[in-house]
Amino acid sequence: MATLAAERLLTIDDLDVSRLDEWLEYSRILPKFAELRRRGPLHWCPESGFGAYWSVVSHAAIMEVEGRPDIFSSRWDIGGITIADRKPDRDEPEMPMFIAMDRPQHTGQRRTVAPAFTPAEMLRHAPDIRRRTAELLDTLPEGEVFDWVDRVSIELTTGMLAILFAFPWQDRRLLTKWSDAATDFEAIDNDEKNQARWNTLFEMAAYFTNLWTERANAEPRPDLISMLAHSDATRNMSPQEFLGNLVLLIVGGNDTTRNSMSGAVMAQNLHRANWQKMMDEPALIPNGVSELIRWQTPLAHMRRTALADFDLHGQTIHAGDKVVMWYLSANRDESVFPQADIFMPWRENARRHLSFGFGIHRCVGARLAELQIGILLEEMQKRRMRVELAGEPTRVFSNFVHGYRRMPVEIRRG
Ligand code: HEM
Repeated sequence: MATLAAERLLTIDDLDVSRLDEWLEYSRILPKFAELRRRGPLHWCPESGFGAYWSVVSHAAIMEVEGRPDIFSSRWDIGGITIADRKPDRDEPEMPMFIAMDRPQHTGQRRTVAPAFTPAEMLRHAPDIRRRTAELLDTLPEGEVFDWVDRVSIELTTGMLAILFAFPWQDRRLLTKWSDAATDFEAIDNDEKNQARWNTLFEMAAYFTNLWTERANAEPRPDLISMLAHSDATRNMSPQEFLGNLVLLIVGGNDTTRNSMSGAVMAQNLHRANWQKMMDEPALIPNGVSELIRWQTPLAHMRRTALADFDLHGQTIHAGDKVVMWYLSANRDESVFPQADIFMPWRENARRHLSFGFGIHRCVGARLAELQIGILLEEMQKRRMRVELAGEPTRVFSNFVHGYRRMPVEIRRG
């Protein structure tokens, strides 16, 4: 007790882990989370650029919050799933999507798209993913600096999404543009950027409306648009819900897997010996995929809003409070993952990571993400491909999408 009493009180600066400038530097945000975890599983930050919020920072406490969707709501109309609230003074459309709904609406809509991600569907997609990945790796230049994010991470994940939607192949980079617009945190406080963001999203809605009409008038097919157009739970979605669910599937499939693929280069460069062990023992790759997703944590948080007062770990969360579950912190929780900052492909419990969330909203695309990342690592292994950083990577300006904008690299063999 004496030691605790002697500890200084946390200031707002210590408590506020939402400041975007701090997310541009890994070296600043991770120690802040480590200190918060040391002090306890949840902390109230009374003011920030995003208003007041609870930070849930331990693995166990996040599982508890995710396990009570009746108390901790995802509903878009009372707060949604990110720390950023909708600005009521801005005249912008609503964007309901099923990740930001509670039961029962969530259940029906999730069920509609789930058949696109079954093990059988993964088996069907695997040969094509391997062919695209191998062909792409074989076109990469050697001894020349290029951007890994654009040439590899974006190309592979955008191609995958185009296949899932049966989207016109030549236009697939539009999916990247739309995904980036949807998650643009720079637009939060910038009206001009926000207007440009909405113009891009309207362009997306118009394009998809044409695809929808075409699929709705044709026989059902196993692509996501056709599934949504023919299912009872989604056939009569409002235009806003249509837009919201498209954004969900595009961002879900794009920004996240993309940043695991960029994280692979970081793991290779920062933890060389451990990476090499995985390349020497390819049987480690499946577990290495989970470890990579843990270590990178492509989405740093999900948010909930309390519907009722709730006692958690000795503190009372009040109805209406914003509750932010920091997956990035849970995945570095030393009580679950010893030496958590280190990428260790043989880590026994790597699969316990919370990068995909937990409970009723756990990522529906998790299997597909693992499949794509696993194939990428296997094809790199077959080619003995060393991807060396050739400059400082640029991070995404966000406390939600946790990843890289650009990553200059050079390929060597060995
Ligand atoms: C490494 C890659 C990925 C990561 C880290 C990731 C992460 C997440 C997280 C954290 C959630 C919310 C979980 C929660 O609230 O408990 C989620 C939900 C979701 N993800 Fe992913 N995701 C990835 C890949 C994908 C892919 C490839 C797709 C589809 C193409 C996808 C589609 C979705 C959808 C539709 C949801 C909503 C599920 C629901 O609300 O029931 N994700 N994902």
